[in-house]
Amino acid sequence: MTTASLPGRYPEIYDAARRDPEAFWLEAAGALDWAQEPAQAFAPKSGPYGRWFPDGTLNACHNAVDRHAEGARAEQAAILYDSPVTGTKRSSGYRELRDSVTALAAVLAELGVGKGDRVVLYMPMVPEALFGMLACARLGAVHSVVFGGFAANELAVRIEDAAPKVVLAASCGLEPNRVVAYKPLLDLAIATSRHKPEACLILQRPQCAASLVAGRDHDWAETVAAAEAAGKQAACVAMAATDPLYVLYTSGTTGKPKGVVRDTGGYLVALAWSMPNLYGVQPGETYFCASDIGWVVGHSYIVYAPLLHGCTTVLYEGKPVGTPDAGAFWRVVAEHGVVCLFTAPTALRAIKKEDPSGSLIGDYDLSVFRSLFLAGERADPDSVAWAERVLGRPVIDHWWQTETGWPIAGNPLGLGLLAVKHGSTCVPMPGYTVAVLDEGGKPVPPGTMGTIAIRLPLPPGCLPTLWGSDARMHSSYLATFPGYYDTSDAGVIDADGYITVLGRTDDIINVAGHRLSTGGMEAVLAGHPDVAECAVIGIRDALKGEVPCGFVVLKARVDRAPADIERELVAKVRDEIGPVAAFKLALTVQRLPKTRSGKILRATMKRIADHEPWTMPATIDDAAVLDEIDASLKGRGIGAD
Ligand code: COA
Ligand code: AMP
Repeated sequence: MTTASLPGRYPEIYDAARRDPEAFWLEAAGALDWAQEPAQAFAPKSGPYGRWFPDGTLNACHNAVDRHAEGARAEQAAILYDSPVTGTKRSSGYRELRDSVTALAAVLAELGVGKGDRVVLYMPMVPEALFGMLACARLGAVHSVVFGGFAANELAVRIEDAAPKVVLAASCGLEPNRVVAYKPLLDLAIATSRHKPEACLILQRPQCAASLVAGRDHDWAETVAAAEAAGKQAACVAMAATDPLYVLYTSGTTGKPKGVVRDTGGYLVALAWSMPNLYGVQPGETYFCASDIGWVVGHSYIVYAPLLHGCTTVLYEGKPVGTPDAGAFWRVVAEHGVVCLFTAPTALRAIKKEDPSGSLIGDYDLSVFRSLFLAGERADPDSVAWAERVLGRPVIDHWWQTETGWPIAGNPLGLGLLAVKHGSTCVPMPGYTVAVLDEGGKPVPPGTMGTIAIRLPLPPGCLPTLWGSDARMHSSYLATFPGYYDTSDAGVIDADGYITVLGRTDDIINVAGHRLSTGGMEAVLAGHPDVAECAVIGIRDALKGEVPCGFVVLKARVDRAPADIERELVAKVRDEIGPVAAFKLALTVQRLPKTRSGKILRATMKRIADHEPWTMPATIDDAAVLDEIDASLKGRGIGAD
C-alpha cells in the first residue's frame, strides 16, 4: 500500500516527515513563539516511548492569546459566543481576551495555583470556561475539563485522580429541555472524593443561582472584578515543552477512566500544523467546531488550534437541532462568516432527519463557507453523500482519539484535496505510520481487516503518558503489539493507503459521538442489589450511531416486578455515569449466553440486536440462550424483521 502516487502536495509532505522527522517537526515548530527555541525535535529515550521538543520552553496562553493581543489582531474577534439556549451573542477580541484571562489567572494565583498544580473545570459552553483553561495555561497549571453531561460520581473520580487545588464551575448548564444545576453535583462530588480542593470559583448564571460554601467557594464575577479593579495581573510562565498542558479523562476499559496527558510543545506544534494544511484555514478566518470543551475535539479545535492560528473561534452553546431548528448550524456559519465547520456525524444525521431536503440551508448566505469536517464516530456514507449534495462543498471524515489530540488520518484539504472515498477517513497525517495488524502483531495485506496500530514513536500532539502512570500507559497501549501504539480500533487500509475505521476492539461504544465504556455501565448495573449478573452492549441506532442496551439476570429470590427494577437501573446509570450515557434500555433475561469457559458472548448478542447475520459460536455452553435473547429483544421491537 502506498500514498506516494496521490495528487497534490500530500505525498511529498508526508514523506518529508517520514524521512527526516527532526527537520520536519523543527520547521513546523517555527509556527510558535518559544521562550527557548528547541534544538532537538525528539528525545527517544525519555518517557514510555520518547518526548517531543525536550529542550524547548514556551507558554500556551502566550501563543494562543498574548501574541495576537497587540497589533493587527488586537480588535479581531478571538471568541464569538453564540448561545441560542440563552439568546446571547458576545464577541471578545484578542486584546479583551488577554485581559480577561490575565485577571482570572491573577485570581487563580491568589488562590494558590501555580506551575504544575491541577485545576478541574466543570463548565458549560461559556466564554469563562475558555478563560479558565487559558488562565491555567498562563500559570503553567494543568487543567482538567469534565464534560457537563457526566454525573457527580464521574466528576468525583476525576477530582480524586487529578487532585486539583481549585475547581472552576458554573452554577448550571442549559439543555434545551432543562436547566442542569451543576453546583449540587459538584458539592456531591467533592463530598465523595477523598481529595478536597482548597477553593471553588463559581460562575453564577442567571438561570440558576448556586449556594456557596463559606470558606471554600468564591463568586467568579465578584472575585475577578475585584482583581481587575486592583489591576492584578499574572504573567505567562515559560514551561518545558514536555510539561503537561492538560489532563483529559476518557473512558478506559473498565476501572477508573484514563487521564490522557497532553504535553505543551508537541501539542501546539501539531495543532498549528493542522490548521492550514489539514483544514485549509488561514489566520483571521472564522472556524466553528460544534463540539464541547469537555471533549478532546473541543480542547483542540474550539480552544487551542484556532486561537494559536489567529483565527476567530465560534463557541456555540446549543444543539444542531431544536435550538431552534435544523438550520442552526447554517445560521451560525452565515452570521459569523465561518469558513470551516467541524462536527460529529450524529449531528449531521439529526439535521438530515429534520430537514431531509436541506431546504433550511437556502435561508442562509454560505458564500464564504468552504468545508465540513466530521469526526468522533464512523461517518456513514449516506450522511456524507447527503451533506455533499446539499452543501455542495467537500465533506471530510477524519479519524482521531482523545489520546492522539489531533487527527491520525484525514483528507488534507490545505495540501490539495484527495479523492474522497465514502466510508474512509483517508490518509495518515505526517508523523503517523499506520498499520493494520493481525492478532499476532503482523501487518496484514491491503484490504484485510485487523487492529489498527501506529508505529512508535507517536507524532507530536499525542499522549506522552497517562496521568500518574507510565505503567498503565504501557499496559493500555504499548504492550499488545511491541513497537506500536494500539488504537483499539479495527479497520482496513486499502491499496491507495486509505484508512477505514470500522469499530472498536474493546468495550468502548460511541453514543452520539460520545465515548463510553460498556464495562463502566456493567459495573453500575451490577451494583444494584437485585442484579446477579449483567452484560451491556451497544446496539445500532439510526441517530446516535449506537445506544447502550443492558441485559440483567436477577438474583434467585427477587420477586419484584422486573419492569420496576429495569426503571431503577436506567435511573442508576443516569445518576452514576450521567445523562450522556443515554442508557434507556434495560432488559431482564433468565440467563446470559456464555461460552463453556464462562465468557459472555456480547459480540453475538450485538449481531442479533443489530439484525446482522450471525453464526452459532462453537464454544457456546447452551445454544438455546441466544433464542431467549433474541425473543427478549424482539419483545421490545429490537432486531425484528
Ligand atoms: N450537560 C448536561 N447534560 C447533557 C449535556 C451537557 N453538556 N450534553 C448532553 N446532555 C444530556 C442530554 O440533555 C440528554 O439528556 P436526556 O436523556 O434528558 O434527553 C442526554 O445527555 C443524552 O444526550 P445526547 O446523546 O447528546 O442526545 P440528545 O438527544 O440531547 O442530542 C444530538 C442528540 C445528536 C443532537 C446530540 O447528541 C449532538 O449534538 N451530538 C453531537 C455530539 C458531539 O459533538 N460530540 C463531540 C464529538 S466530536
Ligand atoms: P474519542 O476519544 O472520544 O475522540 O473517541 C475516539 C474513538 O472514536 C476512536 O477510537 C474511534 O473508535 C471513534 N472515531 C473517532 N473518529 C472516527 C472516525 N472518523 N471514523 C470512525 N471512528 C471514529
